[in-house]
Order: sequence, then structure tokens, then C-alpha cells
Amino acid sequence: MSTPQQSPSLAQRRGMPDPETLARLQRLREQFVRMQMEYGFAVDEVLTKIEILRQEFLHLHRYNPIEHVTSRVKSPASILDKAMRRGIDLTPEAIRQGVTDIGGVRITCSFIADTSTVLEHLVSQTDIELVTVKDYIAQPKPNGYKSLHAIIRIPVFLSTGPVPTTVEVQIRTIAMDFWASLEHKIYYKYDGQVPDHLAQSLADAAAVADQLDRRMEQLHREVHGPHPELED
Ligand code: GTP
Ligand code: MG
Repeated sequence: MSTPQQSPSLAQRRGMPDPETLARLQRLREQFVRMQMEYGFAVDEVLTKIEILRQEFLHLHRYNPIEHVTSRVKSPASILDKAMRRGIDLTPEAIRQGVTDIGGVRITCSFIADTSTVLEHLVSQTDIELVTVKDYIAQPKPNGYKSLHAIIRIPVFLSTGPVPTTVEVQIRTIAMDFWASLEHKIYYKYDGQVPDHLAQSLADAAAVADQLDRRMEQLHREVHGPHPELED
């Protein structure tokens, strides 16, 4: 005797996932919310450190090497996009390991020399671990992009204990930042396929930005001496 066919539940008829899948999705959602919070805390820690450096520098040298600071935490959609592009498993552990720019801080400095000074002060702190550095100022990208990038690891102290969290720090001058923001807009407008004449113009503009940086630094040195830290 065959058992009568069970009619689908209301939830199934509405296309809802079964209870097991639902529980799994809710767990994943909770893990993502938690992950975003942790990266937000890590970014806040780094911002506090930068603000302390800025104020102390100003107090000691009557000079401020930091023009402005911005930060962001990647959205879950953007984290998932990057993980899928890079073939990273869609688990919180694999994402933490493989996506190192979920938390990002961008520091804009007055002069080229300040970029490395700021990074050195930051990573010499005992609770910060330097994971990688990419010096696109010493070795600019072929398109002309310049910036000093560091991936750092900083502990976030939660009720459950410390969570080492990575933050991407980008340090550049105002001229480099100006160039990078325009290049970014052009790159997206052309979906990565920047026409040759624009790519050439961007490369020329990068050279002009570099000349400006050097000229401004030279002027600054003429007025204030070699470097604020070397003054009395
Ligand atoms: P992403 O996958 O883009 O994060 O790059 P990556 O892992 O190869 O690291 P990289 O240090 O080269 O770049 C990290 C970040 O620097 C990017 O997400 C951008 O914010 C910035 N960046 C790198 N290259 C360029 C560039 O050519 N133009 C602009 N405008 N920004 C760039
Ligand atoms: Mg990135």
C-alpha cells in the first residue's frame, strides 16, 4: 500500500528554504554581522592610534604630517564578490584569512617623506603586527598609481577574548590621492578598459603630480629645515 503524498507546506509553496537551510543561513548572517562589527572595531582602533600620532606630532614639532584620514568597512556584498572572484570559500574563517581589505584606512599626508614616517610610527607599536607592505611610491604601478600600502594586524578585545584582525592601510600624498581618485572614476567608467589616449594622459598627469610633490617638499624643506623629527 502506497503512503499518501504529503502536500507541500505553505512555506515550501512560497519558495522558503527548509528549516535546516534557514537555520544555516541565519547562522551565516549572524557570523557576517559579527565579522563586520569586529572589522569596524579594528578600524576604530587604528583611527585612534592615528589621531594620537597626529596630535603628539603637532605638540612635539608644531607640524602635522597628516592632512586627512578616511576609513571604511567593506559591505557584505562586496566581501562576497571579492571572495568569489578569488575562489575563496564562503566561510567566515576563509574570508578572514583571504580577504585582507575588509577594514580599510586611508591616510593622506602633506609630503612624500611623511608617508613612510607615519607608517613606521604606526607599525612600531607593540600591538600592531605588520603583515605585508607594498611600496607603490618607490615602485609605482605601470598606470602611474602611487601609494604606500600596508596590511596590519591588530587585536580587537571582545568579551570572548582578543580577535586578531587585519586592516589595510593606504598612505599617500594629497597629489597622489587626487590622481588616484580620478583614475578610479575613469577606470570604472570604462569598466577597466581605459582607452589608450586617456591612459597616456593619466600617466602624464601622474608625472606632473610627482613633480608637484617634489617641488612642494623642497619648498617646505627650504622653510622648515630637513625634517621635523630632526629639528631640536
Ligand atoms: P585589490 O584586490 O583591488 O584590493 O588589490 P590587491 O589585493 O592586488 O592589492 P593592491 O595593494 O594592489 O591594491 C589594494 C587597493 O589599492 C585597491 O583596492 C585600491 O583601493 C588601491 N589601488 C591599487 N591599485 C590602484 C590603481 O591602479 N588605481 C587606483 N585608483 N587605486 C588602486
Ligand atoms: Mg581593495
